[in-house]
Amino acid sequence: MAGSENPKTIWVIANWKSNKTIEEALNWISLVGPRLSRQSNVKVAVCPTFVALEEIKKAVATGNFPILVGSQDLSPFPVGAYTGEEPAGLLKGIVDLAILGHSERRHNFGETDEMIAQKVTQATSNSITPLVCVQGEDTPVPEGCKLVAFEPLEAIGSGHPDTPEDAARVAKAFKDKYGDDLAVLYGGSVKPDNCVEFVKEDSISGVLIGGASLDPEAFVQIINNCAKI
Ligand code: PGA
Repeated sequence: MAGSENPKTIWVIANWKSNKTIEEALNWISLVGPRLSRQSNVKVAVCPTFVALEEIKKAVATGNFPILVGSQDLSPFPVGAYTGEEPAGLLKGIVDLAILGHSERRHNFGETDEMIAQKVTQATSNSITPLVCVQGEDTPVPEGCKLVAFEPLEAIGSGHPDTPEDAARVAKAFKDKYGDDLAVLYGGSVKPDNCVEFVKEDSISGVLIGGASLDPEAFVQIINNCAKI
């Protein structure tokens, strides 16, 4: 348990996937931003689509909201002749972090562990924090990555989250293997009413939220519930 004098840092990260127009994205920021406290142990981040990133970044800066901005991917290659790719060198300054190796990218776009390791290198060499999604205990964590999200496939978008005990066991296994300074988040059907069970586990440092993060009200409730532990 986190002691009340020195509560642990808890990440609450929204993964919007391929959702929200720029207008909808800005509306979400205007509803969520003013309700967040700067004095909280909860670190909040939002990961919109590429097209909304810059507008979101500006809205966060204008409102002076304590929200980090992340992408949901980035290119394994540097700036150059790679049509359609979004390189870390150009995302630098707009995003603080990047979700890498999400199972939807591995499954739908054939991303391999090797490509994900290249993306981590691109991120870290451009001062972007890589957040690598790991689907099971055997998923490798690339060198230079200190933030991962354990997201069991069957828990994503299903309404059937993993048990906090199992998620904590897997998180502990990752920390044993890669070092205690690896922060492990849990993702998969996280909602306002189950988030606390996960983040109160010692080995779990936060949550990555898909579906429930689209609703500003549910997202703020998750932040507030996590801030209470
Ligand atoms: P979910 O998605 O919260 O909708 O299950 C989580 C994720 O895919 O990151």
